[in-house]
Amino acid sequence: MKGIILAGGLGTRLYPLTKITNKHLLPVHDKPMIYYPLQTLVNAGIRDILIVTGGNNAGDFLRLLGNGKEFGLQHINYTYQEGEGGIAAALSLAEYFSDREKICVVLGDNIIENNISKAVNDFEKQESGAKILLKEVPDPQRFGVAEIRGDKITGIEEKPTIPRSKFAVIGIYMYDSAVFNITKTLKPSARGELEITDVNNEYIRRGNLTYEVLEGWWTDAGTFDSLLRASNLVAQTGANKI
Ligand code: G1P
Repeated sequence: MKGIILAGGLGTRLYPLTKITNKHLLPVHDKPMIYYPLQTLVNAGIRDILIVTGGNNAGDFLRLLGNGKEFGLQHINYTYQEGEGGIAAALSLAEYFSDREKICVVLGDNIIENNISKAVNDFEKQESGAKILLKEVPDPQRFGVAEIRGDKITGIEEKPTIPRSKFAVIGIYMYDSAVFNITKTLKPSARGELEITDVNNEYIRRGNLTYEVLEGWWTDAGTFDSLLRASNLVAQTGANKI
């Protein structure tokens, strides 16, 4: 399986911190934010990794990470996103890199306590489709929220006012190569972006989306509150345990 880290966007929720740098280069406790999703993929045994970024600071990722020697990698792939089209638009830039293999996509501001090895192994065995990871949270209205019936997700709503469950869809997604046909059919949402939730809902419609509930803590780091929370969690318990 190949890995993709989405590290673009303007990070406007963190202004003025993101006025002169990319959100994913900001510190989370003792490391730049992008270190955590990169470690998440490496710990899951994924070695072929693409970083999608953009804006004025794209070159800083290369200076920071190089070929990934610190992570035991021999090479990292990079691609550049023109403008801001949303998560699914950034993902569509990975089609050439993916070369029809299965992919594991991690949002660059998502940090986890443990690892995703089991889910990745399970998805290797899944014939086709997609797999997402859920986590029960106290504030689901901030995220994509899964409606679950029995052992199936019946729908996902992006940032609902009245959430249908407490299960947030975390920013780690596994897809087969059909994902790039789906991203081509998407229309911009009310916030003007191509939404990853629309991709996942299309897999639900096709009847081949599976899910697992993540163990250990999970947080995003894209707002002042969650950035502080991420630093505190990492400082208190450590992240990316094997
Ligand atoms: C994005 C997704 C959302 C998901 C979240 C996880 O939200 O749209 O479905 O739950 O990442 O971090 P955003 O950070 O773009 O608001």
